[in-house]
Amino acid sequence: MELKQAIEQRASVRTFKDTPIPAGDLKHLVSMGGKAPSVNNYQPWKFYAITRKDVLNRMADIVKQRIEELPVNQSIASKNIKSQVEWFATFFENAPAVIALSMEDYESVLEKGVTMTHQDINILRNYPDIQSAGAAIQNILLAAVDLGYGACWLSAPMMAKEDLEQIIGIEEPFHLMAFVAVGVPDRQVRPKEKKPLDEIFELIE
Ligand SMILES: Cc1cc2nc3c(=O)[nH]c(=O)nc-3n(C[C@H](O)[C@H](O)[C@H](O)COP(=O)(O)O)c2cc1C
Repeated sequence: MELKQAIEQRASVRTFKDTPIPAGDLKHLVSMGGKAPSVNNYQPWKFYAITRKDVLNRMADIVKQRIEELPVNQSIASKNIKSQVEWFATFFENAPAVIALSMEDYESVLEKGVTMTHQDINILRNYPDIQSAGAAIQNILLAAVDLGYGACWLSAPMMAKEDLEQIIGIEEPFHLMAFVAVGVPDRQVRPKEKKPLDEIFELIE
């Protein structure tokens, strides 16, 4: 598939057929993620692909628990908002596969020459670790389209970060960053309307 076609066809897919994803396809998706640019080419990531239903259910249950504990206000809307958030944060349990992206601290050139903490350097450079993760995830999303799968990026489950790290087996120095749910779409999902170019682009010449 042409890259342009993959970019234009991509849409977040949240409901899937039960069709399992072969391990070879999951490896391919992660290998495409690993080819992304990263800060200092440090490639500070490790990916896990989870296909075990009982593990996905445990992960979703803990996220649901965290959502229950959110300090909601007393408005009638808050109930709806909570169930909406629950859907967006836990639909992954019905995906045939979920890829978890974990990251470790990168080593920057600056780190060796200044008396600043890693965290301060990270803030100074505007979180290149998170930017690197975004590049890897986008590669995975586009590679999924290329293989005929649908996928969705998820950050909402991160509200149960520590518990999820334990369930998945993510250990120091790695920390959970985000998820991608992948599967064969159970219906056609049309790409969303995006802002027109003249609204998002200015040429400074
Ligand atoms: C950083 C990031 C986090 C996201 N987290 C979630 C999420 O937790 N749950 C979800 O259903 N979608 C999530 N999405 C998907 C967005 O909702 C989706 O990309 C957006 O609505 C635009 O739709 P499109 O992907 O079909 O173009 C996330 C997307 C990004 C980039």
